Amino acid sequence: MKPNTAFALRGNLVDSASPTQLRCREDHFLVCEDGRVAGVFPRLPDRYAHLPVEDWSGRLIIPGLTDLHTHAPQYAFRGLGMDLELLDWLEARTFPEEAGYADLDYARRAYGLFVQELQAGAATRACVFATVHRESTLLLMELLEKSGLVTRVGKVNMDRNCPDSLREPSAQTSLAATRRWLEACAGFRNTRPILTPRFIPSCSDELLAGLAAVQRETGLPVQSHLSENPSEVEWVRQLCPDAAGYGEAYLRRGLLGGENCPTVMAHCVYSDAAERRLLKEQGVWVAHCPQSNTNLSSGAAPVRAFLEEGVRVGLGSDVAGGHTLSILRAIADAVQVSKLRWRLVEGGARPLTLPEAFWLATAGGGAFFGQVGRFEPGWAFDAVVLEDSAYPHPQPLSSLERLERLCYLCSDDRRAVVRKFVEGRPAAGSAPRNP
Ligand code: GUN
Ligand code: FE
Repeated sequence: MKPNTAFALRGNLVDSASPTQLRCREDHFLVCEDGRVAGVFPRLPDRYAHLPVEDWSGRLIIPGLTDLHTHAPQYAFRGLGMDLELLDWLEARTFPEEAGYADLDYARRAYGLFVQELQAGAATRACVFATVHRESTLLLMELLEKSGLVTRVGKVNMDRNCPDSLREPSAQTSLAATRRWLEACAGFRNTRPILTPRFIPSCSDELLAGLAAVQRETGLPVQSHLSENPSEVEWVRQLCPDAAGYGEAYLRRGLLGGENCPTVMAHCVYSDAAERRLLKEQGVWVAHCPQSNTNLSSGAAPVRAFLEEGVRVGLGSDVAGGHTLSILRAIADAVQVSKLRWRLVEGGARPLTLPEAFWLATAGGGAFFGQVGRFEPGWAFDAVVLEDSAYPHPQPLSSLERLERLCYLCSDDRRAVVRKFVEGRPAAGSAPRNP
């Protein structure tokens, strides 16, 4: 099928009616025109009678999911070092592994595996950290461009507090490499750059000021980490005596949202009321990464407060803090972690419901990319067909029950995803159904 031609999918369409409610339109037609949703119909209207229809009757069709925060170079060591806490894990596992991406042959093999799994999974959009290395970051971007997914990818900046093998020699060399990288990736269509200071402990004030200048010049979005772990928060308090908190430290350095600086901050586990107000005022997207927050014993983020207070929020895998790329699984993790917070944190708010967690994985994070994550006319035609026959059941189940169950039972999306479209284009490797 050529990109952006008109066609329809037939199946059980499940998406969010609102941030708190799922809707299921059983045996309906989802029509695509020019990469956008043209409409949802119980019977194909006459004006669409000529369209090719892919018949997925009996299967679930959901909007493409968004992974708002992941690390491509960490995919290779997912599931290792999971008994460590954040700062020890960075030293023991992450930095030594990321240093290996200076070697393009290694990067090609490792990034190839990452892109293969991302391509085959239920996510159609992702915000991705690479490493400090310009050339292997470009290689990752080439692979992602071919995958058909829509992504933002960042060459990481770091000029302090890491091993020499990974540290950029100075703020100025880091900024020069960033500018050269931006020139080199200007031609990509679906894979675009995002400025990526790793986090404040890794970046000198001179580097952050230089990145803020690049941001103002280019209007590029920014991604980083915020308030993930108590030792990290305390470290930033010492590094930035000018700021009342971690979020304010980014703000003072020109890297925390605002009208012309779309920003994703991962974690925000320790964002208090003042920091949450700042995130809301600056329109920052929080990438909630429940599996990583569990593995790295970071804690349980105040997601209910984000939702009630109007902070933008989506879900991230944070591989390899998270051990799986599955955002279906992140939906279940978000519900589970919110229950622990409810029980264990003083004054903990009511846990998330499945429809709320599903909304985070679709329209919540999708909003970073525009009108993405619902089957509404004019929204991006990002759609995923799910097959749950690998998990047989003796009793009848509704489509919504089948979806909930897949979130819990499926830790590898490749067992469930049988077809995927991104802006109306079939994702690479996604084939129409055999008759
Ligand atoms: N903070 C700084 N770098 C990282 C990283 O690679 N993963 C996570 N989870 N937190 C970070
Ligand atoms: Fe991360």
